[in-house]
Amino acid sequence: MMGTKENCLEAECGVCTVLLDGRAVNSCILLAGQIDGCSITTIEGIGDPENLHPLQEAFIECGAVQCGYCIPGMILTAKSFLDENPGCRPSRDEIREAIAGTLCRCTGYRKIVDAVATAADRIALSGEKQ
Ligand code: FES
Repeated sequence: MMGTKENCLEAECGVCTVLLDGRAVNSCILLAGQIDGCSITTIEGIGDPENLHPLQEAFIECGAVQCGYCIPGMILTAKSFLDENPGCRPSRDEIREAIAGTLCRCTGYRKIVDAVATAADRIALSGEKQ
């Protein structure tokens, strides 16, 4: 699996984010003993090319991906936030706060926030918990 990235190794950049029992965590600082018996989901686990997660679709549609290095962590962080707040349609400030732990050097965040807002609207409309 190539989605989860390694970068700072200090839990500062968020590109290593995975879902640990559904919650976004920085995998670079997890010890094996801390995850014993837990479920770990990487970006590969939330969708595939034929069945994208609404966040993956929205990131593509909104042009929120440039180099792509941060995007797996960004999407998993957003997924954790939306899953913890089912049915929510967060404000742009709430989205910015939710993804604040994941750094992007390319996009300037506007399109990323657009994508999360678009996906949140679709998920809320569908009533699905992704
Ligand atoms: Fe390049 Fe975010 S798209 S770091």
